[in-house]
Amino acid sequence: MKRVLVTGGAGFVGSNLSILLKREHGDAEIIAFDNLKRRGSELALPRLREAGVTFVHGDIRNPEDLQSVGAFDTLLDCAAEPSVHAGYGGDPRYLINTNLTGTFNALEAARPHKADVVFLSSSRVYPIAPLRDLPMATEGERFVIKPGAKGTGWSAAGIATDFPLGGARSLYGASKLAAELLVEEYRATYGLRTVVNRCGVLTGPWQMGKVDQGFLVLWAARHLYGGELTYMGFGGSGHQVRDILHVADLHRLVETQLKNLDSCNGAVFNAGGGHGVSVSLRELSDACARHAGKSPKINRDASTRAADIPYYVTDNTDVTRRTGWKPGQSVEDILTDVFQWLRDHHADLEPILR
Ligand SMILES: NC(=O)c1ccc[n+]([C@@H]2O[C@H](COP(=O)([O-])OP(=O)(O)OC[C@H]3O[C@@H](n4cnc5c(N)ncnc54)[C@H](O)[C@@H]3O)[C@@H](O)[C@H]2O)c1
Repeated sequence: MKRVLVTGGAGFVGSNLSILLKREHGDAEIIAFDNLKRRGSELALPRLREAGVTFVHGDIRNPEDLQSVGAFDTLLDCAAEPSVHAGYGGDPRYLINTNLTGTFNALEAARPHKADVVFLSSSRVYPIAPLRDLPMATEGERFVIKPGAKGTGWSAAGIATDFPLGGARSLYGASKLAAELLVEEYRATYGLRTVVNRCGVLTGPWQMGKVDQGFLVLWAARHLYGGELTYMGFGGSGHQVRDILHVADLHRLVETQLKNLDSCNGAVFNAGGGHGVSVSLRELSDACARHAGKSPKINRDASTRAADIPYYVTDNTDVTRRTGWKPGQSVEDILTDVFQWLRDHHADLEPILR
């Protein structure tokens, strides 16, 4: 790698990947490209500068902004409107223009240089109704898949890439799936080497958590700084479950894929914390209360929003078999890291996360 373009490079994933890549490949120029749309992304600028990452202020919706970057040999596409609730009850144009047209523009910028492409996709490509229809039971403080139940693309190990794709998945999920299809066409038509990672929840320091995206950091911050929280949907029980992956574990995966691009070329992986690194909201409340030494008021809102799902855990079997990668950090490791960061940067973060 000589020149790497990281779109969304001031965002949570993009800034962390940029900095970790620069640490690993000191001779490479890492370019973090971002329009700073996400509140808090401006806090990445001094971190990027100190790490020796080049920041370019630009908009992925605008091909000329991408052209101004010049030649590059690797593209990590991390720019997005990342909320699954985006577009509901409102205008979906920013979402589609950024997530779909933006990825098209980034692929067009990559095409003349035959740059390698790693695309950050999402578990939200899987449709909502079949995920809601999975047979669930309640065990302790969480939903689980009913013992012994399994079907095409799902089992107690989680959701695999052969989970059926028919049905609505949110405009966000549709934008990511459509962008995935473009990535595959650029591989087949123009010979770019590509990898797609359908990630479950990603988290860690420098995530600017908000109600509709980045729940773990929001939960931790409200426990520490104050403010209220709400168990939303599914009767307001707080039993809904997600797997979580530390962004440093995602970085290890991306490094492995970049080193083995010939064998990973064209792959679409599910990648996440998996069953071993999953948590329900109620379990998260208990863990955050231990870390913070106090609890905020937690409300209950029984009504389920259009894109809510009760359970998502990644089945990592395929990505582990093909790359040897496994998540390394536990829920407790992740919370320890996040709480340390929240304490270290209290003054900067409280106005954004409270
Ligand atoms: N965080 C997660 O849990 C998660 C899970 C699965 C997939 N993903 C994917 O990972 C990628 C990164 O997500 P994230 O969590 O870092 O989100 P983020 O919001 O922290 O980062 C996205 C960045 O993109 C920038 N951006 C938005 N619109 C832009 C535009 N038009 N031009 C240039 N920059 C623009 C934002 O300013 C922000 O800094 C996204 O593609 C997202 O879909 C994230």
